[in-house]
Amino acid sequence: MSTLGVDLVEEILALKKQRNAVILAHNYQVKEIQEVADFVGDSLGLSIQASTTQADVIAFCGVHFMSETAKILNPSKKVILPDLDAGCSLSDSCPAEDLESYLKKHADKNYYVIAYINCSAGVKALSDVICTSGNAVRIVNRAPADRNLLFVPDQNLGQWVIEQTGRPMDLWKGACYVHVEFTRQSIQKIREAHPEAPVVAHPECTTAVRLLADEVCSTERMISYCKDHPAHAFIIVTESGMLHRLRREMPAKTFIPGPTELCACADCRYMKRNTLEKLRDALHSLEPSIEMPESLRARAEIPMRLMLEWSA
Ligand code: 13P
Ligand code: SF4
Repeated sequence: MSTLGVDLVEEILALKKQRNAVILAHNYQVKEIQEVADFVGDSLGLSIQASTTQADVIAFCGVHFMSETAKILNPSKKVILPDLDAGCSLSDSCPAEDLESYLKKHADKNYYVIAYINCSAGVKALSDVICTSGNAVRIVNRAPADRNLLFVPDQNLGQWVIEQTGRPMDLWKGACYVHVEFTRQSIQKIREAHPEAPVVAHPECTTAVRLLADEVCSTERMISYCKDHPAHAFIIVTESGMLHRLRREMPAKTFIPGPTELCACADCRYMKRNTLEKLRDALHSLEPSIEMPESLRARAEIPMRLMLEWSA
């Protein structure tokens, strides 16, 4: 790291101490942020950390819905996101007003709404329970047997969960713009080049890609799968930040990025908006911070707490 980088890290660590802050980072963050974080993980691990932290300030290096989730669980704490424009295409694919109208229009179905955590506080507030990719199968298995299930917003994750649980669900037609860029052809090609390497894919990928995978799992489970597996090389079909986490934890193994039709690996433009400089500035000014009306927060907390209870 450059001298400038070292100074920046020192500044961040000093501000962190001064603010009594914890730095939480998603597995898709850039290498420099992962290295300065107190905890790096998937959405489930980050939610658990956010629900148990003793810090006064949560510096959330991820995307908006993740920091909003931390605020939902910690109304009295300051939650900061280095770049407020770090959004999520999947979350954007299900505006709360659209879900509300849909539920009204289909009131006869009396839906039990299961929302993937990649959604806004407004969508969470309309849901019965939240899930992540790490616990979706378990959560859907616990949903009331006598209710019609509506799964929002990711149709690909929802389809995978239907196959895993055998539980029919109606699916919102949302998708992650990063994961749908992997195609059957692009993954088949890399698999032919590395026939010895198991293919590990995130469940936000399309069914066509998932069918080529040896393992479909959350980003955190990718770590334990590759640790436990005897293979020396793996093809990783998810966002590029994951490769850093895998290489850091398993330096003796080789991780090959799953390519898209256009690129050798896939970056989430939202996750990559956060930088060390923006993190330093946010810890300094405690802005941008996440705020929401208390009535919305309190309603959104109910399905979040139920998820944490069912995941324990
Ligand atoms: P994980 O919960 O598996 O880390 O996934 C989060 C995400 O945004 C995937 O695109
Ligand atoms: Fe959202 Fe996809 Fe980026 Fe994950 S990778 S934060 S689902 S846009």
